Formats: sequence, structure tokens, C-alpha cells
Amino acid sequence: MNMNSELTENRELLLKKGKTQQKAEELLEKREVALQSGGEKAIQKQLEKGKLTARQRIELLLDPGSFVETNMFVRHKNSNFGLDKKKFYTDGVITGFGQVNGKLVYVYSQDFTILGGSLGEAHAKKITQLMDQAVQNGAPIIGFNDSGGARIQEGASSLAGYGDIFIRNVRASGIVPQISCIVGPSAGGAVYSPALTDFIVMTEDTSYMFVTGPVVVKAVTGEETSFEELGGASTHSTNSGISHLVGSDEIESIELIKVLLSYLPSNNLEDPPLKDTSTINGYEFKMLNDIIPDDPQEPYDMREVILRIVDKGNFLELQKKWAQNIIIGFGRLNGHPIGIVANQPSILAGALDINASIKAARFIRFCDSFNIPIITFVDVPGFLPGLDQEHNGIIKHGAKLIFAYAEATVPKLTVITRKAYGGAYIVMGSKHLANDINFAWPTAEIAVMGSEGAVQIIYRRDLAAAEDKEEMLLNLKNDFAKEFNNPYLAAERGYIDDVILPSETRQKLIASLWPLLRKRERRLNKKHGNIPL
Ligand code: HXC
Repeated sequence: MNMNSELTENRELLLKKGKTQQKAEELLEKREVALQSGGEKAIQKQLEKGKLTARQRIELLLDPGSFVETNMFVRHKNSNFGLDKKKFYTDGVITGFGQVNGKLVYVYSQDFTILGGSLGEAHAKKITQLMDQAVQNGAPIIGFNDSGGARIQEGASSLAGYGDIFIRNVRASGIVPQISCIVGPSAGGAVYSPALTDFIVMTEDTSYMFVTGPVVVKAVTGEETSFEELGGASTHSTNSGISHLVGSDEIESIELIKVLLSYLPSNNLEDPPLKDTSTINGYEFKMLNDIIPDDPQEPYDMREVILRIVDKGNFLELQKKWAQNIIIGFGRLNGHPIGIVANQPSILAGALDINASIKAARFIRFCDSFNIPIITFVDVPGFLPGLDQEHNGIIKHGAKLIFAYAEATVPKLTVITRKAYGGAYIVMGSKHLANDINFAWPTAEIAVMGSEGAVQIIYRRDLAAAEDKEEMLLNLKNDFAKEFNNPYLAAERGYIDDVILPSETRQKLIASLWPLLRKRERRLNKKHGNIPL
């Protein structure tokens, strides 16, 4: 090679490097623009509201360095109403995948600083692509919802975008867990995507969900209301039960999502994640022997029972402030995740009503979809009587609970601590609904009803004719209680597998659960059942 040709080659190399450099710089500039979201002012406004940015949320959720962003350079193609002058990379939603404690998750995070996080065609397509990949690869979908709803300028395309998301929510249901984290507005038909997912986490003061906002409510019904009263976190955790968990701020909401994920398998073909069992203990479980009061009418807190039976007293309670007469949530037994359903005798005496039935039924169906065993604790005097309950359909709502227990094929274990009366006895994880293992404490009372009601009915005539009604009633009640207020009649029939001391419960449940983890139950093939809705 002569000197001249060497120089030419070097020059070409230099030129090439220069071009590559330029291209790289162009890319970095574009990235920089994308990372600036809707601009400094909009970000400032977002932060002033006490909210995090869309990217900060993802950063807090995922393991450091694990986020892989997809479709960063997507922009809408619409020019209606000046939209051509408002084109932003990401189109108002950050999408991608990463890891939470080493487990793959797909995540989208709506960016309110870009066109109010509103959803148009391109924005929706980014979310639907992500959902398809999550289902294909069997990993949970987590969405941060912070959006003004359908992008008004894009008209029907925005509505179509929601439809495309809804159908994927439904198809993904029971295949991968879906979690919605509401961190701003979620209004109009947009609320239905979160509503179709398995869990909704809200944040105090900064998140709200409603189908129609305060202005429309005022115009149609004349009611004066605020965003918070209509659809804030406290409304949806107490009045409607829409929200499963509430964080006092976004950081806490994101922590709650991580705890929730720790109990869940990635998809319906996996078992839930086992924790190292070497140091796992129950907590003060011996005191359970004294937890049931002598007086059967006296309440106690069923939460105290649960906390003493699950590993290390760790219990993630869901919908804590709604339908408090029933408790649901996740715990572990010897490291294995379990779903807990329990009557709460300290609220409405633990009676089942409409909301309690709906709350427990949906939870049971989630556990069954994702291979999580169900442990039921029973202290139930029956279904709640009253005009309100009957008129609002306790019949069909109570039936949901029967349906959910009966159709569930995961391991099902039940402990009757005290009352198990009437239809509610059957409903609450009885052997008659194909439960696997049922225990009763010596304080269990398995009967058609309590002694007071029972003798009033079967001895009505004798009582009416009696000289000393009071004394007769007392004697009859005592006789009835002696005969029926115990677990042994049911044990004789094989309706419960064993009567156990309360302090033995944790060990008995652990010993009974592990063989059931091999359970295989086949049912006749069908499209799907027709749960009473
Ligand atoms: C287009 C929107 C938008 C929307 C907000 N923006 N919502 N752009 N379509 N739906 C824009 C605003 O024009 C503004 O743009 C920026 O986002 C920030 O909004 P602000 O109003 O300044 O913010 P704030 O004061 O915090 O109020 C937030 C808000 C309000 C309460 C959400 O923006 C609002 O009421 N938006 C409309 C909500 C709505 O009715 N959506 C349709 C719901 S019906 P600039 O450029 O000024 O910064 C629906 C149907 C779904 O979603 C059907 C599914 C089947």
C-alpha cells in the first residue's frame, strides 16, 4: 500500500466515524427530548400536585437498571384541533418491561405532562402491544393510570383504543395477574380498564376514579360533590370497595404493589413463589387457646387469629375498610402463599351480607385462577336479615360465594372457630362444596341456627302455653345448646375431618397443605359456568 492510498483510507475512516458520531448524537438528542416529557413547566405542575413523574414511578417499581423501554419514539399522526403542533415522543405513555425482585413484569405509566396523559390511537397501541407481550411471555401487567381519559381531538380513535385495551384485559384475566395503580385522574369509560384488572391500588389525596365527574353529576342529579368525595381513595376503599389497597403516598402505593407481587405467580401455569422456610414461625400461637370468649355473643377480632397462624404474622389484607364483616388477603404457611377468607365476628357479628359475599367471591376466584390455596376461617351466624339486603339481591350475591367456593379446584382448607350456622355454614368453605380438609375448634357450633332462634321456632306453641315462659325458654336453650352447640355431631357425620385445639391450628394446616399441593382435580369441559352476577 502506498502512502497516498493509506491517507485516503484513513480519511474515509475518519469521515465514517464522524457520521457515526453524528448519528449517535442525533439519537441521544432524541432520547433527551423524550426524557423531557411534556417539558419543565408541566413537570413542575405535576410535582406541585404531590405526584411523581411517569418515569419516577417506573424507577421506584423496578429493580435498578432492569427497565427496557419500548416504543419511546412513537408519536401520534393526528392533526385535528392543532394536535399536529403537540407531538411528543412516547405519546404520553411510557411502556416496557423489567424486574421486580428478579421477576419479569410488564409496565406502562401514563405521562400526565403530555396532553394530560390522554389516550389516543398511538398511546393505546403502545399499551396493547405491551399487554400482548405480557400474555405471550407469561408475566404480570402493571399499569400506572394518570390520564385525562380519551384524547378528545382524536375522537373515535381514542374510544377504539380503550376497546382494544378492554378486550385484552378480559383475555389476560386468569392468565397473568393485572394490577392497576391509580396515581391521578381516571375518569369516564377509562375507569373500566382498571376495573377489569385483578387489583386496584389508589393513593390518598392524588388519585380519583369516576364514570362522570362532579360537573356532570351536578347537571344531571343536582348533587354538589368534589373529586375526592366522588371518587377519591377514601371513597373507593370504604364505600365502593373498588380499591384493594391504598398508599398514603405514591411511594407507599408502589411498595404495596411489590408486596402484593411477592405472593403471586407470574402466570396461571406457575405455582406461587415459595419463600425460604428455614426461619419461619407462627407468632404467639399458643394464646389462641384463650381467644374465644365464654359468651357466644361476645365479639373478638378474627385478625388476631390470622396473624397468629400465618408465617411471622405477615398478612397482606385487601379491601380492609370495605365489607369489614369479612376479611380477605394473602399470607404464607411454611413459606407457601395462601389466600385467606375469614368472617369477622367483631363487625355485624360476622354475618354474610351482599358486599361481604361479593368481596370474598372475587378473591376466591382470583386465588383459584392463580393456583393459590384458600384457607377459610369461619365464625358466621348466618346471612344478614333485612329488607335492604333482600331488596338489593342477597340471594344472587350470596350465590356468588357458593359458586366461587364450589368451582375452585385449588387446595381448600377450613377452620371453624365458633359459629357455623345455617346456609352460611355450607357457603363458608364446607366439605359439601368440595373442600379438602376441614377442622373445627372445640368451641365450634355447627347448627341450623343459634339456640335462641331455634327453640323459639320449634317450641313456639309450648312456650306460648307455658306458665313460666322465661324459665322454660332458658331450659330449652340450654338443652339445645348442649345438643347442637358443638362440633361433634358434624364430626360424627364426617363433615369435618378433626376437632383440634386452637394452638394446634398452624401445624395442622401446614401438615394438611403440603399433600394438597399435588392436588389435581379435573372437571367436565365446558366453555364457562354462569356465575350469578
Ligand atoms: C385531550 C386533554 C384531556 C383529554 C386533559 N387534557 N384531558 N387533552 N384530551 N381528555 C390536556 C389539557 O387540555 C391540558 O393541555 C393538559 O392535558 C393538562 O390538563 P389540565 O386540565 O390543565 O389539568 P388539570 O387542571 O390537572 O385537570 C385534569 C382533568 C382535566 C381534571 C383531568 O384535564 C379534565 O377534566 N380533562 C378532561 C377529562 C374528560 O372528561 N375526559 C374524557 C372522559 S370520557 P395543555 O395543552 O393546556 O397543557 C372518556 C371516555 C372513554 O375517557 C371511553 C372508553 C370506552
